Amino acid sequence: MENMELPPRPKLFDFHGVSMTHYFTDNWENIQNFQARPDDILIATYPKAGTTWVSYILDLLYFGQTAPERQTSLPIYERVPFLESDFHILPPGTELADKLSSSPRLIKTHLPVQLVPKSFWEQNCRIVYVARNAKDNAVSYFHFDRMNQADPEPGDWNNFLQRFMDGKMVFGSWYDHVTGWWEKKQSHSKILYLFYEDMVEDTGRELDRLCSFLGLSPSAEEKERVRGGVQFDNMKKNSMANYSTDKVMDFKISPFMRKGKVGDWKNHFTVAQSEQFDEDYKKKMKNTQLRFRGTI
Ligand code: A3P
Repeated sequence: MENMELPPRPKLFDFHGVSMTHYFTDNWENIQNFQARPDDILIATYPKAGTTWVSYILDLLYFGQTAPERQTSLPIYERVPFLESDFHILPPGTELADKLSSSPRLIKTHLPVQLVPKSFWEQNCRIVYVARNAKDNAVSYFHFDRMNQADPEPGDWNNFLQRFMDGKMVFGSWYDHVTGWWEKKQSHSKILYLFYEDMVEDTGRELDRLCSFLGLSPSAEEKERVRGGVQFDNMKKNSMANYSTDKVMDFKISPFMRKGKVGDWKNHFTVAQSEQFDEDYKKKMKNTQLRFRGTI
C-alpha cells in the first residue's frame, strides 16, 4: 500500500433498491450475463458473516490434497473470485472466475438473492449461504469499514449502527439479505444455509454438514487436517487467507481476522443501543421463522 495512491472512499447509492458502491456495479452487464457452470459452487453471504472462513474450508476440502501449491502461492481472493467486484487493481471477479481452470469453481458473492445472475439458477448450482447474528455482523462490518478504503467511511459507531439498522450499507439491508436467502432456501434444495455461530460452536459438526451437502466423504484424518487449518488462529497467521496481501486494507487500523468470536457485540453496544436495536429488530424480523443466536 505504501507507494499506491488510493482513490477516495466510494459513495453509496441506490441500485435496484439496494445500497451499493460503484465497485460492485461498474461491471454489472458482465455480472448479469455471467455463465455459471453446473458444478460451480457459490458462496453467498452478507459482508462479514464468515465468507473467508467458508471459502477457505471449501478450498481445502476440494483442493487441499490435489493442489497443495494453491495453499502457499494464491491468496484466497484469487482462488475464490468475488463475482461482482471490480476494484480496478485486480481483474473483475467475472474475469477471474472465467479464467479459473480448477473444477469445481468456487465463487463468492455478497449479492442479495434477487440480484444473483440467473445462470446460477438455470444451472442449478449448489450454494452455501452463511449468516451471522445482526449485532456481531454490524460490529465486524464497522471495524472492516474503518480499515477498508474501498468502502464508505464508517463514521462513529453510533452513526454506523443507525445506518446498519436503516439498511444503508454496501450490499443493502442485513435484514433483507438474510431473510431473502432464507425464503429462497425453503423452495430450493441446492442451498445450504449455515450459521456463523454454529461454526464457532462446533466446526467439525458443520464441516460434516457441508460435506454431506456437497457429497464429499473425506477421511477422518483429512477432515481433521481441514478443521485444524481453518481454526481462527491458523487462518490469522496464514498470509494466503488473512488478506495481508490486499492493497486497500489498512491493518494498522484493524486486522481482517479481527476476533472471530460470537458475542463481541457486548463490547460495543451500550445498553441503550442494544435495547433500541432489539426493538427495531423485532419489527423488521416479525414475519420470518429465521432465528439467530447472539451468544453461544
Ligand atoms: P470479526 O471481525 O468479528 O473478527 P468475512 O470473511 O465475511 O469478511 O467475515 C470476516 C469475519 O469472520 C471476521 O469477524 C473474521 O475474524 C471472522 N473469521 C474469519 N475466519 C474465521 C475463523 N476461522 N473462525 C472464526 N471467525 C473467523
